[in-house]
Amino acid sequence: MTQEELFPDLPKALGKSLVFASLRQPVWTENKARLIHRYLYYFVLITRHGAYIDGFSAPQEPDVADSWAAKLVLESKPAFLRDFWLCDLSKVGCEALEALAADHRSRHRRVEVVQGDFNERVDLILASERIKPKVATFCLLDQRAFECDWATVQKIAAKKTENKIEIFYFLASGWLDRSLASSSTEAGQGRILKWWGRSDWRTLQGMNSANRAQMMSERFKQELGYRFAYAWPIYDRGSKGTVMFHMIHATDHAEAPKIMNRAYRKVTKALEPIEELQASFMRLLEPLPEAP
Ligand SMILES: C[S@@+](CC[C@H](N)C(=O)[O-])C[C@H]1O[C@@H](n2cnc3c(N)ncnc32)[C@H](O)[C@@H]1O
Repeated sequence: MTQEELFPDLPKALGKSLVFASLRQPVWTENKARLIHRYLYYFVLITRHGAYIDGFSAPQEPDVADSWAAKLVLESKPAFLRDFWLCDLSKVGCEALEALAADHRSRHRRVEVVQGDFNERVDLILASERIKPKVATFCLLDQRAFECDWATVQKIAAKKTENKIEIFYFLASGWLDRSLASSSTEAGQGRILKWWGRSDWRTLQGMNSANRAQMMSERFKQELGYRFAYAWPIYDRGSKGTVMFHMIHATDHAEAPKIMNRAYRKVTKALEPIEELQASFMRLLEPLPEAP
């Protein structure tokens, strides 16, 4: 029995880039946290362990239910993820993160709140002996525009050689042109240079946003060595197709893009019963080794 027969809604593996059909009901911005949650919900059913790093993790809209990625991921059941690092620059944001962390720390779970610039704190986080080569590790980089340095992404990608840390990277497609155009000061342009990590950032101006996202995905593969990187569009609610973000998902695991495809399609629907998923996922994927 082939993988496709086991899981017919996953696209066929063609030995080259997968092509995912577009959705009739696009994924709106308010579902971006749900998308991360849903993907991890699926993935940790296979790994049964994992570590989660969230570089820009304070709630953006504290009053909107289910919009805070760190909260949804921490609350997800079964609670297979064991180690969390939640970073944010904002003091108030870190107070909210501390309150969340306090609800979820246990003998089996470590939740560390790290206040400061993620581009500096990343070294400390990645130095943790808890991120061992065989620990499935995920990193959310939910920046607003240019906050995450390319050097930071490089460090995350370089941390593990065997099944690199999976990255969910937010590219602010909806306002990138405007933000690029309005960054006229030396400091503003210096920030963009750090974000892009190359001096040719002006070529981004005016590019079609899908092409730009594709180009960014290619960088994850060519410069960082990921086997797979796909850009998933996230839309402005009610618009006629305005893409606000592209979420670039970079992974070394061949099945991971298909799992993301499933998460993307099901994000607004009720979670499938675990038993049903487990039966098919366990056969579908090569189980990753248990964390030591
Ligand atoms: C888009 S919001 C994050 C939203 C959050 N992931 C959620 O699910 O609601 C971006 C966050 O990045 C934080 N931030 C901005 N610059 C930062 C930096 N250099 N290091 C860490 N956090 C930063 C902001 O304080 C803000 O909380």
